[in-house]
Amino acid sequence: MSTILITGASTGFGRSLATEALDRGHQVALAVRTPESVADLVAAHPGKAHAIRFDLTKPADAERAVRETIEQFGSLDVLINNAGYGLLAALEETTDDQLSRNLETNFTGPFRLIRAALPVMRAQKSGRIISLSAIAAYANHPGFAVYAGAKAALDAACDAAAQETAAFGIKFTQVIPGPFRTDFIGRSLDHAERLPDYEATVGKFGAYLAKVNGKQPGDPVAASRLILDLLNEEKPPFRLVIGHYATTMLAKKIAANASELEAWKERGLATDFPAGS
Ligand SMILES: NC(=O)c1ccc[n+]([C@@H]2O[C@H](COP(=O)([O-])OP(=O)(O)OC[C@H]3O[C@@H](n4cnc5c(N)ncnc54)[C@H](OP(=O)(O)O)[C@@H]3O)[C@@H](O)[C@H]2O)c1
Repeated sequence: MSTILITGASTGFGRSLATEALDRGHQVALAVRTPESVADLVAAHPGKAHAIRFDLTKPADAERAVRETIEQFGSLDVLINNAGYGLLAALEETTDDQLSRNLETNFTGPFRLIRAALPVMRAQKSGRIISLSAIAAYANHPGFAVYAGAKAALDAACDAAAQETAAFGIKFTQVIPGPFRTDFIGRSLDHAERLPDYEATVGKFGAYLAKVNGKQPGDPVAASRLILDLLNEEKPPFRLVIGHYATTMLAKKIAANASELEAWKERGLATDFPAGS
């Protein structure tokens, strides 16, 4: 049995992860903006589920969430950075407020929470940090400049942190989904005011998202089972790509990157000083 802190447990991936974790007998701290949204889980799992009022955009909430988890359960073994939301906006349509709120929610907030959890995990010489990334961080679409930028920033930060903390028994995994059937495209997708010139790109992607909403191929319950299975793996993957869509998109991107690297390799290599100089 592990103690797991999950952010955004009200709906979608977070709720599925929390439900599955509780069913498996883990102790779960549910970090949510509205504790009432998880009152049913807390009532159904007395002593095992604990709600914590938590907002990624409030800096003090990170250390408090970790502290409350320890006070309640006496330990913290796994942090699941799940909460987040999308922003559909061309780079030039994005307002300052949209930019800072999205970065705060998808990058700075999770970064702060990881930083708050690390001293506990470092002292106990074990820990798992799992974060919900997005395929857009690796193979992006028009309209996701800020959202995917924030996810890519967290992935890069965790890549470094994983190397910094491996010696303390701490293991990181970035989960990389394509479209999964949650509230993400509905209530969790912010929009900018569209400039007519971006209708053919951002507008088109927005229309695709609207069309797929409610019919996304990804099943968050199946994903949650796989994510929690990682806790039994001695060597969990740093990147876990889930669903056909993300798997295909990433494979195409890797092939395109390899071919571009090859095409420009000779000229790129020629920018080093001559060997031995
Ligand atoms: N579903 C997909 O297709 C998909 C694809 C790629 C990546 N993802 C990622 O998966 C993660 C979970 O999203 P989901 O698909 O499960 O969507 P969801 O059902 O809309 O859940 C989003 C969760 O994030 C929480 N949240 C948003 N802003 C927050 C804040 N400032 N502080 C604390 N909690 C906050 C929401 O809380 P409230 O209930 O209070 O709003 C909700 O619990 C996100 O990081 C998302 O980027 C999803």
